[in-house]
Order: sequence, then C-alpha cells, then structure tokens
Amino acid sequence: MAKILIVYYSLGGNTKEAAEIVKKAVESTGHKAVMKTGLEADLKDLLECDGIAIGTPDYFSYMAGGLKDFFDRTLYPSRGKVEDKPYFAFVTHGGGGKAIDSVERIAQSFNFKKAAEPVLIKNSPDSKARKLLEETVMKFLAAL
Ligand SMILES: Cc1cc2nc3c(=O)[nH]c(=O)nc-3n(C[C@H](O)[C@H](O)[C@H](O)COP(=O)(O)O)c2cc1C
Repeated sequence: MAKILIVYYSLGGNTKEAAEIVKKAVESTGHKAVMKTGLEADLKDLLECDGIAIGTPDYFSYMAGGLKDFFDRTLYPSRGKVEDKPYFAFVTHGGGGKAIDSVERIAQSFNFKKAAEPVLIKNSPDSKARKLLEETVMKFLAAL
C-alpha cells in the first residue's frame, strides 16, 4: 500500500473540492491518502510519502502562498531525499491557469518526477473535471 500526500491550499473551497476528489480516488484503490494544506504539511509528510499530489488555486498567475509555504520550508531539509518522487499537479482557476507554471518549476527544483499531466479546472470541479481528475490519479498511481 502506497502513501500519497495530497498537499493543497484553498481559500474559497474549489481546490479543496478537487483535493477531496483526488483523496477518494486514491483511497478507492486501497492506497493511503494524507490530505493537508500547505500550512499544515511538514517535512515528515514529504519524506514519508511515496507520491505527492499538489493542488493550488491560481492566485495572480501563481500558486497560492499557503502552498508555497510548504515548499519554502522543505526544500533544503529534503535535499537528496526526495529526488524522483512521483507527482502530479492540479490547479483551479478563474479562466487563466498560469499558476501551473510555478508549480512545475518548483517540482523541478525538488527534482520530483512528473507522473501525469496536470489537471486544470475552471473554478469548482464539474463532472468532466471530476472524471479527468480520477483518470489522472489512476495514471499517477500506475507510475509509482
Ligand atoms: C486573490 C485571487 C487572485 C486570483 N488570480 C487569478 C488569476 O490570476 N488567474 C485566474 O485564472 N484566476 C484567478 N483567481 C481565481 C481563482 O483562481 C479561482 O476562483 C480558484 O478556483 C479559487 O480557488 P479556491 O476556491 O480553492 O480558493 C484569483 C482569485 C483570488 C482570490
């Protein structure tokens, strides 16, 4: 059984809704999901997980500060310990979605391995977005 860290941030609830879909999809396969905001998650969560799902709203074409906080705190202490950790990202946005670029750049700084293409969702996830998220989780888990 793999342990998946779902680290996200959400002020308005859209990204939290998406994170909950990811959590359910992970658990439906029998794997363990740990869902935390970027302010709650810590180095131990990052080191102990087998894969990481990163969720953020697009705020000013960048990831949410509450998610970035997690990466700011964990970059140096995780050096040499998280290379090639599989990840995928999901972003909710109001029509832009450029925040994905900031997530992908940070993932490269950690040398995480991109296990599935990112999912971009306009505002709250509709049934199409839900399906895409669920399919992406399956691809991500298959790459562990
Ligand atoms: C402070 C702020 C800045 C935003 N900037 C952008 C933006 O640059 N591009 C965009 O597409 N949406 C932008 N939005 C819209 C949000 O990305 C979108 O509503 C998102 O789903 C909110 O997620 P949340 O409900 O998890 O907070 C912004 C929203 C807020 C509150």
